[in-house]
Amino acid sequence: MNIAVIGTGYVGTVTGSCFAESGNHVICVDSDQQKVKALKAGDPVIFEPGLAELLRRNQAAGRLFFTESIKEAVENSEIIFMTVGTPQASNGDADLSFLKAAVLEVGRSMSGYRIIVNKSTVPIGTHLKVAEWLKSVSNHSFDVVSNPEFLREGSAIRDFLYPDRVVIGSSRKDVFDRISKLYLPFAGAKKIIQMDTLSAELTKYASNAFLATRISFMNELASLCEKIGANIEFVKTGMGADSRIGGAFLNAGIGYGGSCFPKDIRALLATAAREGIPLRLVEATEDINERQKRLLIQMLEREYGKNSLRGRVLALWGIAFKPDTDDIREAPAVALIQELLKAGARVRAYDPAATRNAEELFGRDVVFCKTSYEAADGAEGLIIATEWQEFLNPKLPLLKEMMARPVIFDGRNTLDPMQVLQAGFQYYGIGNGAGTAAGVRNLRSMTGMGRSMKTGNGAYDDLENASGMGIAVI
Ligand SMILES: NC(=O)c1ccc[n+]([C@@H]2O[C@H](COP(=O)([O-])OP(=O)(O)OC[C@H]3O[C@@H](n4cnc5c(N)ncnc54)[C@H](O)[C@@H]3O)[C@@H](O)[C@H]2O)c1
Repeated sequence: MNIAVIGTGYVGTVTGSCFAESGNHVICVDSDQQKVKALKAGDPVIFEPGLAELLRRNQAAGRLFFTESIKEAVENSEIIFMTVGTPQASNGDADLSFLKAAVLEVGRSMSGYRIIVNKSTVPIGTHLKVAEWLKSVSNHSFDVVSNPEFLREGSAIRDFLYPDRVVIGSSRKDVFDRISKLYLPFAGAKKIIQMDTLSAELTKYASNAFLATRISFMNELASLCEKIGANIEFVKTGMGADSRIGGAFLNAGIGYGGSCFPKDIRALLATAAREGIPLRLVEATEDINERQKRLLIQMLEREYGKNSLRGRVLALWGIAFKPDTDDIREAPAVALIQELLKAGARVRAYDPAATRNAEELFGRDVVFCKTSYEAADGAEGLIIATEWQEFLNPKLPLLKEMMARPVIFDGRNTLDPMQVLQAGFQYYGIGNGAGTAAGVRNLRSMTGMGRSMKTGNGAYDDLENASGMGIAVI
């Protein structure tokens, strides 16, 4: 099929490349000249595992093209996927200005019937607006379909090629069949779900809100664990083993971020408020997340005292909102850096992929390092803000030697507290047992159970020998 994809960000570039991979002729459009130039040269601009190879392979095969011209793309395509950004507007709702501009240009460029497929995340009812916009500039017939995207940055190619499900919102069987055909090579008929357009639009928001709710639920429980001395990591393992619950999205930490959850949740809340149906669970999810983002600052205050960050050198591992992406939009680490700089701290940061984006944001206010150890060199504290794989097993003796003060603030519970404590560090985590006297007593009582309960590295086995542990007791 001949397909156009409008907007070549994380979603558009992946969508275009994957549809080209299954043999379609795909023209991708972006209004950003520099981006199109880079894409034409085989550079996806964003960091996404496997994307560069997929892109270049399909360009070389003559199936994938990039242009700045919506007209050129629409003239040569039967199906137009809209993948432009829908950021948060100042009132919390989704800002549809990029979508509107692109749709109007699509409408003006139509020379006959087209199917417009909305893949951008948009408020419920947006397909009706899209139809109005098209009608205002074109006499040609069209159908508007909602086909929300569920890919996750960091595993976007895999998610697109092997989706859990594909949602297609269209009440017309023939239109559904045509879009469905595009996904059959990836999804198989059983995974393709047809529904009405309104429900498809809501399904996307509902999915993100539900996943975010799981995270906030665990974060709230982590605070209780912290108080009573239980360990949220054990609780997570115990809960996640239940097949009705499952283990995903149960990680306690310094909150969710990224380009989707925060804005989608606010947009859902805005829609619900407009309709007079407040979503109290979703409101609480957001409140808890905002509170969670301030936890690290509270830990720093506990360690160094209030208003005592001025001049302190702090290492920060991880800036991206999650591992395996360079995306720093609404990343908890970004809010944290801003707070640290405001308080006068000197930040030495390292991220395996997001440094370029962070440099654009912070310039010379932050020292960006080439390795995690370089960032920790001379630091009075190490903050872990993103759970990148390479942070999971640091060389603790080396770190201790390099740091001016051996303190770790583990915002993602990436490390085994007992291992860190045994290595002579002061350790702060998120409800994982090291924050209170009761928690430490419990960790002690876990001697011999470490292998089955936690990381399997045996750290708890040696607990009784862990004398002089610098556990933060509050
Ligand atoms: N990033 C994700 O993980 C993800 C996952 C699922 C859904 N979504 C949704 O998909 C949509 C796109 O997200 P993204 O992260 O890919 O955004 P992005 O910001 O990375 O990319 C959007 C692109 O659209 C381009 N654009 C804007 N206006 C345009 C116009 N008029 N003509 C042509 N190009 C235009 C921009 O230059 C940019 O390159 C959003 O609605 C988002 O909520 C994102």
